Amino acid sequence: MDLFRIEGGRQLRGSVQVGGAKNAALPIFAATLLTGETCRIRNVPDLSDIRFMARMLAHLGARVEKVDAHTYEIEAGEVHHRAPYELVRQMRASVCLLGPLVGRLRKAEISLPGGCVIGPRPIDLHLKGLRRLGCEVAVRNGYVEVEGAGLRGDYLYLGGRHGSTVTGTANMIMAAVLAPGTTRIESAACEPEIEDLCHFLRKMGARIEGLGSHYLKITGVDRLRGCDHSVLPDRIEAGTLILAGAITGGEITVREVIPGHMRALLDALESAEIPFESDPEQRLVRVLPQDKSRRPVEIITLPHPGFPTDLQAQMMAVMALTPGLSFFTERIYPNRFMHVPELLRMGADISMEGPSAVVRGSDRLFGAPVMASDLRASASLVLAGLAGEGTTYIRRIYHLDRGYEQLEIRLQQLGAVVERVDEEAIRDELGEW
Ligand code: EPU
Repeated sequence: MDLFRIEGGRQLRGSVQVGGAKNAALPIFAATLLTGETCRIRNVPDLSDIRFMARMLAHLGARVEKVDAHTYEIEAGEVHHRAPYELVRQMRASVCLLGPLVGRLRKAEISLPGGCVIGPRPIDLHLKGLRRLGCEVAVRNGYVEVEGAGLRGDYLYLGGRHGSTVTGTANMIMAAVLAPGTTRIESAACEPEIEDLCHFLRKMGARIEGLGSHYLKITGVDRLRGCDHSVLPDRIEAGTLILAGAITGGEITVREVIPGHMRALLDALESAEIPFESDPEQRLVRVLPQDKSRRPVEIITLPHPGFPTDLQAQMMAVMALTPGLSFFTERIYPNRFMHVPELLRMGADISMEGPSAVVRGSDRLFGAPVMASDLRASASLVLAGLAGEGTTYIRRIYHLDRGYEQLEIRLQQLGAVVERVDEEAIRDELGEW
């Protein structure tokens, strides 16, 4: 198995380009099931989650062709309705096949994905929404079975205990675009990835109003057609790179970003007195050298446009190395703190109380052997490793490969000393760990 070996303490310098958004590409791939015509999707990140979704679509009967490193052509001529456990358990986002299968075939059978390291991930709102749209829904033998002969538009309220649901909103939109009548979704997720999915569906001929808001109106159409679409830039990858620049006190330019999608992060950088410039026209954010020490911050994760849960762990790494008291509260996934015990191994001082963490920032972190547990926790450990003194070894980086394309190469281009190494090859160096 591969691990990352990082020699910390180098300030990052230079320029790096962000790829397409994983969390937009996944539902867009699923949406290709809504037509038998060919869809061409560009700016797709080359990630294990994407390759997995491609395999899933092929399993359902679609022709999936990777035209080049970042372009796919998908043609879902004849498809069937069952996504088995062996596939779904490998990627929880498979649940976003539910909406398009119901829309296209009026029938879906999808395995429930099971446990997740970042906490319980229920899909009750998806099921409630499908019932409102006239479907019969049952959970049997670990599968969600949907009979959608009665699918038709209706009014849906999609708010839950933690706010709106991103994939639940994607599912309802994808079921509604081919449902007779009008669907109104209130408390819809307004994440940029949902907006991008709506742009894709509109190119296919769907009638959707209210893009980017919490209120969507969808008028069902009889059929959709193929189209050509380029996936929007990944705001979470952009944020991670920006924070990598910030934690090392370097100067980096992150290109192909949409600053308007990252207001909460940029606001937090301002509060932390981390100097930066952003230019929406040129689609860049530049992190500037820090001539004074950073300030601690208070972060509360919320649905968009609030501070994204997917950047909480990375921001915490930066605050662990920022003298003073910082406070973090997780409102989306109250248990999403797997990075904390690993950051402690690197010398961080963090205490937990329910869904909150108090970070007593210091001016030093130290390299250590640590374990990646989920995608964003892994990114947090990379950031801490870049700034820590000495060598950090991060095991199980397959988590990182789910959401960051060749992260080590892009960091190397910015001057970081990081390499991907086969664990067996450095067994002696690792010692007993
Ligand atoms: N929720 C419910 N019931 C539901 C659905 C969700 O209670 O039926 C709760 C969840 O338990 C959670 C909250 O609502 O507390 C938000 O969940 P949501 O459905 O919005 O999350 P998701 O769609 O499963 C997507 C991203 C996640 C990201 C979250 C929040 C994809 C493929 N995944 O998940 O991304 O953290 O939205 O923004 O889009 C990641 O990329 O690392 C990642 C985990």
